[in-house]
Amino acid sequence: MYQVSLVNAGTRAADWKDNEMYQILSQSGVNNKKSAISGALCFNGDFFLQCPEGGRAAVNELYRRIHDDHRHLRMSSCLITMKSAIAASINSTYCTYRDPESLILRYAGKKQFNPYEMSGESALRLGFELAFSLPEDSLQL
Ligand SMILES: Cc1cc2nc3c(=O)[nH]c(=O)nc-3n(C[C@H](O)[C@H](O)[C@H](O)COP(=O)(O)O)c2cc1C
Repeated sequence: MYQVSLVNAGTRAADWKDNEMYQILSQSGVNNKKSAISGALCFNGDFFLQCPEGGRAAVNELYRRIHDDHRHLRMSSCLITMKSAIAASINSTYCTYRDPESLILRYAGKKQFNPYEMSGESALRLGFELAFSLPEDSLQL
């Protein structure tokens, strides 16, 4: 199975509640393990940047589900990049981080996190760094 890395940006829905991140992370922990998907999810309270990696068919299927997820503001989900990978870079099933200010400064050149304004390569590298900076299989808020 071909391995791919995908980067997607999104905006939280207007009726977003804080406990929804716990639901997303627990759903992801179960489903991603089953589908051999790893990845990083970055959320600053407004914007999501998600970087799932795995087999091409599994990542495409996940992308469709996430795209249609009502927790995203309607039509806000935006594919930033998808590239083939020799092997998955991230080990954890999913991890997340809030306001990664110092990393954002390095990858976006400013403190405010806005994944829609990042290049695909920078966004993917940011996802990798987030994943590497957190313990394996961590669900952090
Ligand atoms: C920003 C965001 C990221 C998500 N990431 C994942 C993910 O990596 N894996 C996953 O299974 N679901 C993820 N979801 C949830 C899916 O959209 C969908 O609700 C879920 O996969 C359905 O799981 P279920 O069929 O077990 O209920 C994400 C949702 C959002 C809003």
